[in-house]
Amino acid sequence: MIKVDDTAVYGAIQWEQVAAMDPRLKVAWETLQKGTGAGNGFLGWVRLPEQYDRAEFARIQKAARKIQSDSQVLVVIGIGGSYLGARAVVELIQSANYNLKQKNTPDLYFTGNTLSTDAVLETLELIGDRDFSVNVISKSGTTTEPAIAFRIFRAALERKYGRTEAARRIYATTDRAKGALKTLADAEGYETFVVPDDVGGRYSVLTAVGLLPIAVSGIDIEALMQGAADGMADFGQANLSNPVWQYAGVRNVLYESGKKIEVLGCYEPNFRFMAEWWKQLYGESEGKNGKGIFPASVELTADLHSMGQYIQEGERMLFETVVDFRHPRGRLVMEADGENLDGLNFLAGKDLKFVCDQGMLGTRLAHVDGGVPNLVIQAEAVEPYCVGQLIYFFELACGLSGYLLGVNPFNQPGVEAYKKNMFGLLGKPGYEALGAELKKRLRER
Ligand code: PA5
Repeated sequence: MIKVDDTAVYGAIQWEQVAAMDPRLKVAWETLQKGTGAGNGFLGWVRLPEQYDRAEFARIQKAARKIQSDSQVLVVIGIGGSYLGARAVVELIQSANYNLKQKNTPDLYFTGNTLSTDAVLETLELIGDRDFSVNVISKSGTTTEPAIAFRIFRAALERKYGRTEAARRIYATTDRAKGALKTLADAEGYETFVVPDDVGGRYSVLTAVGLLPIAVSGIDIEALMQGAADGMADFGQANLSNPVWQYAGVRNVLYESGKKIEVLGCYEPNFRFMAEWWKQLYGESEGKNGKGIFPASVELTADLHSMGQYIQEGERMLFETVVDFRHPRGRLVMEADGENLDGLNFLAGKDLKFVCDQGMLGTRLAHVDGGVPNLVIQAEAVEPYCVGQLIYFFELACGLSGYLLGVNPFNQPGVEAYKKNMFGLLGKPGYEALGAELKKRLRER
């Protein structure tokens, strides 16, 4: 069960302010649950953990087994919502060092999220002579970065295996019916998986977008979905005893009181890409119409020795949310040392988790004393079931929070600006006039 501890925000704001959010939370909740708000064509994720396509889920598991049996590497091509969720879950549950570990599942290389020549060349080099497959993921099927990467890795597959066998090693996750990727997949006979029409990229980790790479890494995707489904039931109450309401309500009261930046931290280094996923989820959902909390992240305790200074004493527009996993998978007990030259014998017999908890409590008090209100989101353990719950918690709180803020949490009009300019500068057909205008501006600078 996910719990929110908001006790350390009540120096900066009053409980009455949160309680006063109740009517607004109620309206936002009904808007989300009844599908009456802006972007209501993209609410498929709300009931997805219960209402997903079981036949497709079985195909995902079958494809994952095939990839595990015939490939030493899976190249996962995608960007934004078609990238971050899978990487986040694999790194959190398996490890950021997943590819370095001895295992009987394929290495995963994520690409299509960059235009860096060196990064793409490095991925080709890392694959080397090994057997590989490709999962290309793009809901629109037209996004430039993954489309370019797919051309490169598809060519590499076809050189190695020939066109027919390459086609058996390509898995396309895209729209049910439209887009360049769907057209190509149908023409070449690739196995395809569907990004449902009503699920936007950043809410799609629990569809084939995330599930295929996650399953290939050996994670139990049934447990992940069960956690999310139980999250649906747990987060059902329409009142402030619901942790989703607490998180959405408190962060909006903090925002309205001048705390414009939320720093998400976790004491598990493997959480790093979950924080990247969370940043996209909240940043892209809320950052519009001149509004929105800026989502940032820190890795604890490492960043206490870098960003810790700013958090403690920099400009006071921050609040901090810490994700606390209660139970590590193992135990490490500090041993006594006969010489005690490092002076650490006072910790002899203590569990490292206990030391970490004291570090967390001390940090929390220090940051609160420094004017940084602190929220804690408690999860039980880094296990698929709990991670499924956590994903659903953050998604639901994000939709609710966006409606509280008064924005459409399911569009991303701002992402188009750079794309149009890039197409103009690259000479894409249809963008000639814009290209000419931009080149003139660049010459005149
Ligand atoms: O959340 C979103 O909608 C975006 O981040 C998209 O996922 C991202 O732009 C990739 O889009 P696509 O899957 O269409 O290639």
